Amino acid sequence: MNSLIQKAKECHALSKPEIIRLLEDNSINEELFQSADKIRKQFVGDEIHLRALIEFSNICSRNCFYCGVRAENKNIERYRLTPDKIIQLAENALKTGYKTIVLQAAEDMYYTAEMLSDIIKEIKKNDTAVTLSIGERSYDEYKILKDAGADRFLLRIETTDKELYKQLHPNMNFENRIRCLKNLKELGYETGTGCLIGLPGQTINSLADDILFFKEFDADMIGLGPLIPHKDTPLKDAKPDGFWLSLKVLAITRLLMPDINIPATTAMETINPEGRILALQSGANVVMPNVTDEFHRSRYEIYPGKKSVDYTKLEEKFKQINRTISKNKGFR
Ligand code: 5AD
Repeated sequence: MNSLIQKAKECHALSKPEIIRLLEDNSINEELFQSADKIRKQFVGDEIHLRALIEFSNICSRNCFYCGVRAENKNIERYRLTPDKIIQLAENALKTGYKTIVLQAAEDMYYTAEMLSDIIKEIKKNDTAVTLSIGERSYDEYKILKDAGADRFLLRIETTDKELYKQLHPNMNFENRIRCLKNLKELGYETGTGCLIGLPGQTINSLADDILFFKEFDADMIGLGPLIPHKDTPLKDAKPDGFWLSLKVLAITRLLMPDINIPATTAMETINPEGRILALQSGANVVMPNVTDEFHRSRYEIYPGKKSVDYTKLEEKFKQINRTISKNKGFR
């Protein structure tokens, strides 16, 4: 067996040059994926945690270069769901059997912390975990939301390459994003981060930094996916070739962080028909089906072709790879 993979399996630690060697050498991919699958089984078992994703607003104040819902895109129909509608979608999902509701939106300040608190409190009357994915807010807002009962928060760093971060995120600031992540952790959220893979100008060197950042920050969840170029964004001509590299970053992340939660993201499946299954067999243990109604889901177009999950077929699909659906909330 490759000695670096062996080391990662035993020590859950690698140096930056070692991560770079694994990322560059494609002859070890099968062994890497299988090893990550073994570590996943050993530390977090065969249960897959399902998270019901509700995309409640696509009105965004930001202009991230890769994202289809960026403020300057005039070619999409914008929407905001009412608190009642959000709660209704959550309750439908809970009836289906979900144990986590993920409230995700573009960076839309229309929803004050107080408004979101009321929604969280209502949903938390049920036996469920609530995850937020609503972007950058102040410490005080994060605290109000935590006090309302939110359990987890997802905020990808997107890239730890500061120069690249600056190019892709006009009027945003890397330090503030780090501040947000630290605040969330300090407030007691299970905190998730992650990155995009295949960004123009992104190097293997910077992906190794991303992986080391996940480990150093001790994230509870890591969401990764390939860039899927959207025609109405500045990155429209980028190459959508990040799938295998994403799978490698996922597998190495699992080897270094054996007990965290790692989703098989929708972007992985969108770019490769087998992507979700491959991710689940290379270290992932979470799936996040979209439970937004079809009308709004199609308007939440951060990238094109977004694949949806057929809930009724999930159990059968998982069974084929000897996995089951978890019946608990699936904290780290
Ligand atoms: N392709 C793939 N992923 C994207 N995201 C945003 N735009 C794209 C795209 N074009 C990811 C970002 C964000 C998450 C919600 O979606 O990483 O954090």
